[in-house]
Amino acid sequence: MSTSFRISCLVPDLPTPSQVAPFLEEMHANRWYSNFGPIVTRFEAEMLRFLERENGASGCFVGTFSSATTALELALKAMQLTTDAKVLVPALTFPATALAVMNVGLTPVLADVDPDTWELTPEIAKAAMQEYACSAVIPVAAFGRPVESEPWVAFQKETGIPVLMDVAAALGQQQIDKELSYCFSLHATKPFGVGEGGLLVSGDENLVLRSRSLSNFGFQGTAGVVQQAGTNAKFGEYYAAVGLVQAQRWEEVMDRRREVLDHYAQGLGKLGNLVRLQKGTGEFIPAVFPIHVDGRAEAMVERLHGAGVQTRRWYLPPLYEHPALAHLKTIGNKAGEPLPVCNELKKSLVGLPFHAFLSKQDISEICDIVAGEFV
Ligand SMILES: Cc1ncc(COP(=O)(O)O)c(C=O)c1O
Repeated sequence: MSTSFRISCLVPDLPTPSQVAPFLEEMHANRWYSNFGPIVTRFEAEMLRFLERENGASGCFVGTFSSATTALELALKAMQLTTDAKVLVPALTFPATALAVMNVGLTPVLADVDPDTWELTPEIAKAAMQEYACSAVIPVAAFGRPVESEPWVAFQKETGIPVLMDVAAALGQQQIDKELSYCFSLHATKPFGVGEGGLLVSGDENLVLRSRSLSNFGFQGTAGVVQQAGTNAKFGEYYAAVGLVQAQRWEEVMDRRREVLDHYAQGLGKLGNLVRLQKGTGEFIPAVFPIHVDGRAEAMVERLHGAGVQTRRWYLPPLYEHPALAHLKTIGNKAGEPLPVCNELKKSLVGLPFHAFLSKQDISEICDIVAGEFV
């Protein structure tokens, strides 16, 4: 990704062509490129082992999709909610969370997030639903911070409302409980990037099978017969080949990301409370690296850009400020006012560069520029 900045915000960390070549040779020999071929099948089995090893998954099933967005869409469709169903989502998320809901004809309802984790919590969801009933909830692993599964399992049991996790950026970090369903992204910018792709992971085998069938037009059983109207959202052999190499590279990828985070912790630690990190950072390695600078986001971005350092303002604007989403109902605020926590985060979050190719010197330079804002 070329930019005019000296230091880029995100640089994908994918395998080299020669690492992928043996799998591509195999694909070529098979003459099988899509439609759940042998390499996709192997990748699904490999991901199940990976999730068992890394994230405590047991009794789960894995389906592959063309993206996390289509995995979310088709899982929602497979859940067979009524056509007037409302789905609660946090207002601080990548737009795909709400777009997936809308794309399958359902209505997103926007809730505020926790001021420390920057995520929707079961407490916020419960309070929101007392104000406005919803038929499903999509918690989000904001910026790749894994969502605690246990409280959502309890929420689902207590309320009977199904929970679908949008943990797009948290593959490898997100603990898996078979009572819930999780959608992950394999987009090139994610720590486990293959280019494009998504995973659905769930203890509900039927949900995975139905979603998978919907990714293949809705064909089920007798070849070519549509049981429920689907689409084409299949994963392919090329991307699965990259995925098999990424699974082998995972420790190397994460060691490097941990090193980058450690350098940042040293550099930003000197600023004390002037800069806040997302709660629990360090116990997990984030996918991207937003820092909280207490209302100074705009000035900080200007300062960093002036010094040739690229930043991003994830996930801004909040969903209710996108023209295509501004009509959606928000809960937990006075009519006509923005959601208070999202509104504060909007002025305070700045995404710093975070990728494997940052040197220790880059990071200390970035930290010095950030510090300059507080002098
Ligand atoms: C929270 C969240 N949900 C969904 C997506 C969409 O993922 P994909 O690009 O694989 O469709 C993203 C992508 O960044 C995301 O951050």
